[in-house]
Amino acid sequence: MSPGQAITIVHLSDLHFGGFADLTQIEALASFLPTLGATAVAVSGDLSQRARHGEFQAAHLFLQQMRAIAPILVVPGNHDIEWWKSPLGLMGERLKYAKYSRYFGQDLRPVVEAPGIVLAGALSSYGVAFGSLTWNIRDVAVKGHLPRSETNRVQKIFAAAPPDAARVLVFHHNVLAGGLSGRQGLANWRSAHRRLLATGADVILCGHDHQEGAGQIQGALAVSTSGTHSHRVRGGRPSVFNLVRIDAQAVHIQHFRWESADRRFLPSDTYSFARKGPPKVAVSVAGGDQGL
Ligand SMILES: [Fe+2]
Ligand SMILES: [Fe+2]
Repeated sequence: MSPGQAITIVHLSDLHFGGFADLTQIEALASFLPTLGATAVAVSGDLSQRARHGEFQAAHLFLQQMRAIAPILVVPGNHDIEWWKSPLGLMGERLKYAKYSRYFGQDLRPVVEAPGIVLAGALSSYGVAFGSLTWNIRDVAVKGHLPRSETNRVQKIFAAAPPDAARVLVFHHNVLAGGLSGRQGLANWRSAHRRLLATGADVILCGHDHQEGAGQIQGALAVSTSGTHSHRVRGGRPSVFNLVRIDAQAVHIQHFRWESADRRFLPSDTYSFARKGPPKVAVSVAGGDQGL
């Protein structure tokens, strides 16, 4: 990427089509996002509430609209898989993703290339699985994990990408502790962080926490956490999606907050993280309120 050149990604997450979706926001997104001039759109999972056909169909229609703007990468979230059809993978791995795949394709780990950018999707949603078993019964089908095979696969994709391309890794579960929840989306997150750092990614795009975030793993790898466009926001705060801009020097993560009175998204805080060379410094342009 030459100096002065930049790519822009609309980062959405947790649309949760179904009873909790905020249709006013979805409609505002459909009209507002085409004005942002994005190079790509990434949707980091939880398209549905209960993996129902009608929810997936609504999500599919929305994504078709977004496809008119730019290439799209989408990965499944924990709400999008029918894990009960194959708990612990006992009935095979494909069964729990069959309905999702009917609408969003067989490839659960998609790769999208566009000029100046490679986006790699990784699978972190497995439902009740050995890799994310927990004693917290409420979390047993919610927690995600990133197997070593996933981080190794992504590392190879990024190693083979053009040297000047921005490398963007997309999966569902949050890798920074949630701002209000304090929770880590991934089981064995310390190991996951070490392996994520080795993938060569410039930025990770994730969701799951239903609260926006912008930060870094070990001061070296930028992370964009996008919020939700359902009524299940954390702490009654306004919904937020992120716009991620990558130039030759830095990754810039800008929050767009939903203003319900005006029924529109307004630009909010921007965080900038240098792309290479430790230590990294976070700069909040508009004064941040995220303790991540
Ligand atoms: Fe969600
Ligand atoms: Fe989730």
